[in-house]
Amino acid sequence: MTRALLARGDAVVGTDNFSDYYDPRLKFARLTLLQNDKNFWFVQADITDRERMLALASQHDDLSSIVHLAAQPGVVHSTIDPYIYIQANVMGHLVMLELARKCSGFNHLVYASSSSVYGRNRKIPFSAADRVDQPASLYAATS
Ligand SMILES: NC(=O)c1ccc[n+]([C@@H]2O[C@H](COP(=O)([O-])OP(=O)(O)OC[C@H]3O[C@@H](n4cnc5c(N)ncnc54)[C@H](O)[C@@H]3O)[C@@H](O)[C@H]2O)c1
Repeated sequence: MTRALLARGDAVVGTDNFSDYYDPRLKFARLTLLQNDKNFWFVQADITDRERMLALASQHDDLSSIVHLAAQPGVVHSTIDPYIYIQANVMGHLVMLELARKCSGFNHLVYASSSSVYGRNRKIPFSAADRVDQPASLYAATS
């Protein structure tokens, strides 16, 4: 995604906390591919770090879009450590919305939810108009 945006001439500010839920080595390797691009800035931070995230609005005053893909994944794991799902997926999402609100020229938020939100719904294919009020896990409820 970032490579495509840079290739079309956009400037990109990337953020990741290098969570170890999945192997961070892959994340660092991908970051290395981007770091020499003069239109790419990287902030190693947690998206729930309100102060650092909201500061991006003034540090990059032309920030107009957010592609929000940072999430705590894992259906089963959400029964083991529920707190991090509320923290990353609910609080993190709120911080992204507040960041958008702080950017004067903001016009576009992209967010990856999950088909898990449709719960035990048997209707296939899912539709964005389907009900999402019967999630089968905390991951689903926070996606
Ligand atoms: N992979 C799938 O099958 C799938 C399916 C449906 C939806 N999604 C959604 O797509 C999005 C991206 O998923 P992915 O599969 O690329 O996951 P991923 O784990 O590969 O990427 C998410 C990135 O976010 C980072 N991250 C996690 N919590 C963070 C936090 N609090 N602050 C900053 N960075 C944080 C992680 O370190 C990771 O690099 C997520 O919202 C996920 O729920 C993924």
